[in-house]
Amino acid sequence: MRDSRRRGPDLRVDKERLWKSLMSLAQVGAYTDQATGLRGVNRLALTDADAQGRRLVSRWFEEAGLEVRVDQIGNVIGRRAGVEDLAPLMSGSHIDSVPTGGAFDGALGVLGALEVVRSFNDAGVETRRPIEIGFFTDEEGARFGTDMLGSGVLAGRISLAEALAKGDRDGVRVADELARIGFAGSSPATLEQAPAAFIELHVEQGPLLMAAGADLGVVTGVQAIAWRELVITGKSAHAGTTPMSLRRDAMLAASRVVTFAHDMATSGRYGEHMRATVGRVDLYPNRVNIVPSRALLTVDLRNPDDLVLRAAEGALEAYVSELASELGVVITSRVTARTGAAHFDGGLQRLLARHMDECGYRHQRVLSGAGHDAQEFASRCPTAMIFVPSMYDGISHNPREYSTIEACEAGVRVLARAMLELAC
Ligand code: GLV
Ligand code: MN
Ligand code: MN
Repeated sequence: MRDSRRRGPDLRVDKERLWKSLMSLAQVGAYTDQATGLRGVNRLALTDADAQGRRLVSRWFEEAGLEVRVDQIGNVIGRRAGVEDLAPLMSGSHIDSVPTGGAFDGALGVLGALEVVRSFNDAGVETRRPIEIGFFTDEEGARFGTDMLGSGVLAGRISLAEALAKGDRDGVRVADELARIGFAGSSPATLEQAPAAFIELHVEQGPLLMAAGADLGVVTGVQAIAWRELVITGKSAHAGTTPMSLRRDAMLAASRVVTFAHDMATSGRYGEHMRATVGRVDLYPNRVNIVPSRALLTVDLRNPDDLVLRAAEGALEAYVSELASELGVVITSRVTARTGAAHFDGGLQRLLARHMDECGYRHQRVLSGAGHDAQEFASRCPTAMIFVPSMYDGISHNPREYSTIEACEAGVRVLARAMLELAC
């Protein structure tokens, strides 16, 4: 077995090559943010830009010698054969973005895993286990309303039929978009053989690592997330002639929900880590002189504790039904996504911390506030994540999202060492 026991110090991660790949992918779906003039990334899942990104990264996978397959939910996985026919070691993330995204969210995990494969190729490393790296469909949930869609199907949490039937806000379905962009694959969207382990590299997207002066983060898990879509139906009426007492104003109800969610999260009743966000409001007819008759809004609730999150969801539901009778509107509420708190493997966390120590990187344990594909794998195999610090108070889902080339290199270096150890 040639070089199969080669240890991390012999591997050379090429940070310039990694950076070039990150910046090239960031050109796909690039746009100029109107508010700031900054260049951002808009690669919503299964759009033409996502398709272009998918083709580019698939080509890079092939050029790195990987055998590429596309599964029925459009996940793209590249396999590097092992010397033995064992369960694969997996890594990866996503290349879809929110419409106002940056160059790093998801992309670092995919291109970082690719850089690991490239560095193994350069060093002539053969591993005992096969290595599989991938990118998973619509991790963001920003188009089809459910986050971790592709990895959720792969891990068995979401059924394939349910995922394929999901529609975007124009009613365009996942199944049709996958076919249109040429990524409706035939490989089964299941983990037929549970991976030996899954490790995801990602930017932190928060301020904790920078504040602690840490070079890298060892992620302990991911907090629980629940998304709802509320539809408020009132009655449209003339803004000048309709007395206030006769109105059934959908916008008024929507604004009360926004305030309730904010107050709930800041009250301390659900702990200091409670988060609540109303990120979307669609209003109809949305005209200056008409009382709005309909509002659609989304509520994103998060908490590290599943039970506490359930309690917050219950409080929101109770408030919404009181509000409907108080304002004379009808409110329907639909859960569009819910994932429980994920806890990453203790042994893998220690292994990552050891490699960080050996490389001289200061590290910190951190719980992820954002959702990640790794949380889906955590139900199927030992799973862990490495976080790279994010600059500018950790801003993300924003064109300002940024991590330095050195920080990205450090993350990939540790990923490479960990993968080498686990695959040999
Ligand atoms: C994904 O980025 C999420 O946490 O919403
Ligand atoms: Mn992400
Ligand atoms: Mn994201």
